[in-house]
Amino acid sequence: MVQDKSKIRAMKVLAIETSCDETAVAILEGSRDDFRIKKNLVASQIKDHAKYGGVVPEIAARKHVDVLAGMLKAAKVPADGKGIDAVAVTYGPGLAPALRVGVEAAKTLATVWDKPLVPVNHLEGHIYSVLLDKKNQLKFPALALIVSGGHTEIVLIKSRGKYKVIGETRDDAAGEAFDKVAKLMNLGYLGGPIVSKLAEKGNPNAIDLPRPMIDAKNFDFSFSGLKTAVLYHLQDHPRTKKKDLAASFEQAVVDVLVSKMVKAIRKHEPKTVLLCGGVSANKKLRSELQRAVRAIHELPVQVAPLKYTGDNAAMIAIAGFYRARNEDFIDPKKIKVQPNLNL
Ligand code: KG4
Ligand code: ZN
Repeated sequence: MVQDKSKIRAMKVLAIETSCDETAVAILEGSRDDFRIKKNLVASQIKDHAKYGGVVPEIAARKHVDVLAGMLKAAKVPADGKGIDAVAVTYGPGLAPALRVGVEAAKTLATVWDKPLVPVNHLEGHIYSVLLDKKNQLKFPALALIVSGGHTEIVLIKSRGKYKVIGETRDDAAGEAFDKVAKLMNLGYLGGPIVSKLAEKGNPNAIDLPRPMIDAKNFDFSFSGLKTAVLYHLQDHPRTKKKDLAASFEQAVVDVLVSKMVKAIRKHEPKTVLLCGGVSANKKLRSELQRAVRAIHELPVQVAPLKYTGDNAAMIAIAGFYRARNEDFIDPKKIKVQPNLNL
């Protein structure tokens, strides 16, 4: 998607997202300079995976199959597709069996309705989620910190649709580290919100934990050593105060993320700085990044409204809308899921 070459007419986009453990459907109505989310439905499977301590791909896929058709109906998607101009769907990255459910559904609808099919990268969806707050606007070059259960990346966005990943995690993603630490501490699943809630009451300086790669001369991350440090601390201090451990762990993650982002901003001097992905719901990360960036950058960090930080289809719809305006379509016969897709 290099430039916007369309005449830009009003357009209604149906979007489907099934890359992990949320089944999501959205309808967006867009025009030349504005858009509105008309429907936004998300069915979370957290409870179905909680007893396994993580997402089980086959169970995720089966649950998507169980609920997707009903959600399309609940979103009042017309049976004949009347009024829908394009079907957008997440085709990667994510869990292959889960992605396949959404992609097959979107492909079927696009084929029988004879409407264009727009393949959307889940990570591009997270980036565009910040536009769901109407105050936000992407100016290029932009710099994005994507922090989710599967990804931790700093992305330089040179122009619309032109991405360069300048830093990424070498092992666990930030959200994954929260989830694993919650498991080590027997706090349950989904770890991020549980650990950060507990951390609010704790002392972030109580326990000395490492800040992996904070001084490395690159923008990469590593969180598995931090998780192991938490494990050793628990083994050595079984009576440790969990709230202090949660707060110290959260502080270590936030320190590394903020420090790398500050270095990346200094180097690339972006016009927009944005924070997105499930972990961007974290209050401490939001406020500390905001504070650090305010000191060196004239504009605030752009974040999505809280209801759109986790996986949803509204973000796929907005990313799909911009792609559809550029006629960035795929032949339904050719779409394939890409579990390891990057930007
Ligand atoms: O973007 P997302 O919904 O799904 C993926 O694309 O992975 O991100 C989910 C991740 C989970 O690891 C979850 O624990 C984490 O986001 N998360 C948080 C918070 N809320 C969700 N991590 C830290 N603090 C939070 N408040
Ligand atoms: Zn996600």
